[in-house]
Amino acid sequence: MTRTFETVGVVGLGTMGAGIAEVFARAGLRVIGVEADEAALSRGRGHLEGSTGRAVARGRMTAEEQAALLGRIAFTTSRDDLAGADLVVEAIPEVMEFKRGLFADLDRICKPSAVLATNTSSLSVTAIAATTSRPAQVIGMHFFNPAPVMRLVEVVRTVVTEDGLPDEIAGLARRLGKTPVTVGDRAGFVVNRLLLSYLNHACALLETGLASRDDIDAAMRLGVGLPMGPFTLLDLIGLDTSYEVCEVLFRESRERRHAPAPILRELVTAGLLGRKTGRGFHSHDRDAPETAGEPGGRPEISLVGLVGGGPDAATVLEALEAAGFKAAVAEPGDLTPVAEADVVVALSDTPVVELAVRLPRPERLVGLHLVGERVAEVAATVVTSREAAETVRDLVRMIGRTPVRCGDRAGFVVNALLYPYLNDAVRMLEAGYASAADIDAAMRLGCGYPAGPFEMLDAIGIERVRDGLRALYAEYREPSFAPAPLLDQLVTAGVPGIRAHVG
Ligand code: 3HC
Repeated sequence: MTRTFETVGVVGLGTMGAGIAEVFARAGLRVIGVEADEAALSRGRGHLEGSTGRAVARGRMTAEEQAALLGRIAFTTSRDDLAGADLVVEAIPEVMEFKRGLFADLDRICKPSAVLATNTSSLSVTAIAATTSRPAQVIGMHFFNPAPVMRLVEVVRTVVTEDGLPDEIAGLARRLGKTPVTVGDRAGFVVNRLLLSYLNHACALLETGLASRDDIDAAMRLGVGLPMGPFTLLDLIGLDTSYEVCEVLFRESRERRHAPAPILRELVTAGLLGRKTGRGFHSHDRDAPETAGEPGGRPEISLVGLVGGGPDAATVLEALEAAGFKAAVAEPGDLTPVAEADVVVALSDTPVVELAVRLPRPERLVGLHLVGERVAEVAATVVTSREAAETVRDLVRMIGRTPVRCGDRAGFVVNALLYPYLNDAVRMLEAGYASAADIDAAMRLGCGYPAGPFEMLDAIGIERVRDGLRALYAEYREPSFAPAPLLDQLVTAGVPGIRAHVG
């Protein structure tokens, strides 16, 4: 028997719960929004009024439509009001004890045919289901922040989920205008497993001092084309939630890289949870100044040295000459042509400091890595002078790119963050957890990425990513940076791309 979902309960009206309630009400369903007390209920109502009010202000909705939408939502502090709901979606904090208590209550209160869903970010749906007398009717329905905007819903089935229920919930997600991806019950599902590993890694790089918060954010947003840099996104998700998801990932994987970065703990302990408290990694004060790179002047130099022969070196050479600079070029084998240059820019795969020590004035050498069309990473070694690094940043601005300062480490910032994420996606595929097409769709629709990881792998080239991972592994010795066997095998087999071979 196919169920009909017309009345939906949403328990917890924080950022996610209120967004989920809005999504259901927008699709014409009746919603019962439940909060623990009057104060929380009033905050939840405020979220809904604010979000729909912005839609009215932007001309996306009329005031009448807003009133009708809000009129479809009943607000209550009594769980007993959920007795007639066809479906209840839980969106309370990520604490297993709270979830178990709630599901035991819902099981007692809701009609026998009702489906109980959890919006948990990473906790075990199976463990939540086990607290009820109807585990076959318990399922994960995982939305993404902001719920009204992000198009993905992960539908999480357990080993005891009733046959057909995942398809019914996927059908409901489509009715809401979302795209469902159905997966099994594993910590982090598809998106949070890939996303939080990357975000936690960004925190770790920040803590090592490789680059600043703003440089890392700019590198990933402008360089890779992600909608937000990692620290801006962590603030959107909430640092408490991010911490909890990492903790759950760590408990399952026992991999150190999943252990929440100490800076997350520090910020959470200080109550700096991100947007919802006005401050996390960033201040969300509307008047706070933008911290983009400082304006640079035209450097007073007569000769720029370039080391490297690839297309990037040609691009930089052309841009420098167009800007009126004189340039000398050397291959990494013989640096004589650039020995007398005022600054030397290295665009080769050779570690920057290895080139520096072969110059008469090692302090003049700076590493450069072009990322996309808009960014260039500028890597200073331990011997690079401040003047040389500043000069190269000014040159980068003059050729129309945003400089990202970083230390001389394999992968600089972008590849150090991007390649392990791509490798994790290959491992997820290899483990049989989800198809390449589903993983790609999940990252595009759940996080607004311009392309999924397999699409990115094909665009960058699998050999380049494999080699980049080898270099990262050699530098950091982090086991998860070693190329996934599938990636290695595809490169060895000489195939041009990954998607054509994995379906
Ligand atoms: N509620 C409702 N609508 C919102 C909104 C919100 N909180 N925030 C933004 N919007 C709407 C705006 O009204 C606007 O709509 P319009 O185009 O119809 O006018 C649209 O979204 C775009 O917003 P803006 O122009 O203000 O801003 P941006 O273009 O910068 O987009 C963003 C904002 C959609 C948040 C974009 O930056 C983005 O996609 N970021 C990535 C978000 C992401 O990765 N989310 C997933 C996090 S992981 C997660 O949630 C799982 C959990 O378990 C941890």
